[in-house]
Amino acid sequence: MRFLVTGGAGYIGSHATLRLLDAGHEVTVVDNLYRGHRGAIEALARVGGPRLRFVEADILDTAAVARALRDGGVETVLHFAALTYVGESMERPDDYHRTNTTGGESLLAAMRACGVHRLVFSSTAATYGVPDAGAMPITEDTPQRPINPYGASKLAFEQVLRAQTAWLSSVALRYFNVAGADPAGRLGEDHRPETHLIPICLEVALGRRPQLTVFGDDFPTPDGTCVRDYVHVEDLVDAHVAALAALENGTVDGTVDRQTPHRFLRWNIGIGRGYSVREVLESCRRVTGHAIPAAIGPRREGDPPSLYADPAAITRDLGWRARWTDLDAIVRTAWDWMRAHPAGYR
Ligand SMILES: NC(=O)c1ccc[n+]([C@@H]2O[C@H](COP(=O)([O-])OP(=O)(O)OC[C@H]3O[C@@H](n4cnc5c(N)ncnc54)[C@H](O)[C@@H]3O)[C@@H](O)[C@H]2O)c1
Repeated sequence: MRFLVTGGAGYIGSHATLRLLDAGHEVTVVDNLYRGHRGAIEALARVGGPRLRFVEADILDTAAVARALRDGGVETVLHFAALTYVGESMERPDDYHRTNTTGGESLLAAMRACGVHRLVFSSTAATYGVPDAGAMPITEDTPQRPINPYGASKLAFEQVLRAQTAWLSSVALRYFNVAGADPAGRLGEDHRPETHLIPICLEVALGRRPQLTVFGDDFPTPDGTCVRDYVHVEDLVDAHVAALAALENGTVDGTVDRQTPHRFLRWNIGIGRGYSVREVLESCRRVTGHAIPAAIGPRREGDPPSLYADPAAITRDLGWRARWTDLDAIVRTAWDWMRAHPAGYR
């Protein structure tokens, strides 16, 4: 099949592209390289050869995206391109709205013009905000009340998708914390700046940072540090493959409703349990054999004590469940890539 992947030079989009290429598909990547890496595209080209096309373009450029869709004969879109930093979104809310919501609408306009009717969208647990105390785990029906412009911009695009079922079948996958790297070591995680806990711990082990700062150790959690749900990027890509199958069938149960063939579907993607910051740090120490010094800092504004998914719906509907549930195994894949690429893609 022929796919278009937006944001395919970034962390998760490159791993999804890799899977599609490994499976023999043709993939056109559209990325403006604002936060993505030419090195990731080069790694993908080594796998896909001529089945990979790279178009350096902004998703806000509807005409360029439409050209990419036509030139690639695209049937289905995986939409990863976004601005993704919560803190930055507080300082630049308009940029987040423009890229994450208006950029999505621009992509839809191009798809509609080209007769492309299937899309999988990277949504986020940040659309849930701070669930009420005791509302763990988070189900798809937990109220979505984002507390920052990043979460709001992602929720706004979910709402756009929900309103397009006259012509579009789409899936929003609400990721929790994505971690790890291609187990074969072909791709990894290289965010600049890095804000995710596991790569930050590993950067300390590599000597790229002096220490880890733990933001608060007085939360109402078993060890006082925040608890999050870490899903391996390979499992996440599996969830996309399962979602693509559901889109092709038109409905979750595989039947096709001729009256209303298009659907908006949404699932949480997490392993269904949380690990604390301290547990992640200990895991990184075990895997790297490095002491990874850590200091306790103040809490960050708006950090909920505990966030983890209830993935029962996607298990029930699509048979997906996380296979990487051992934290050390997840960390090891990230560490293997980082050790082999101490300067990242650059
Ligand atoms: N990493 C996580 O833990 C996580 C969790 C929840 C949701 N998500 C979502 O997953 C998606 C991918 O995240 P990631 O961690 O791979 O981020 P990333 O920054 O590594 O990748 C995003 C890619 O989008 C590209 N991009 C940004 N703006 C663009 C534009 N206007 N036009 C074209 N390309 C553009 C960037 O250059 C980059 O390559 C995002 O939509 C993010 O919101 C990620």
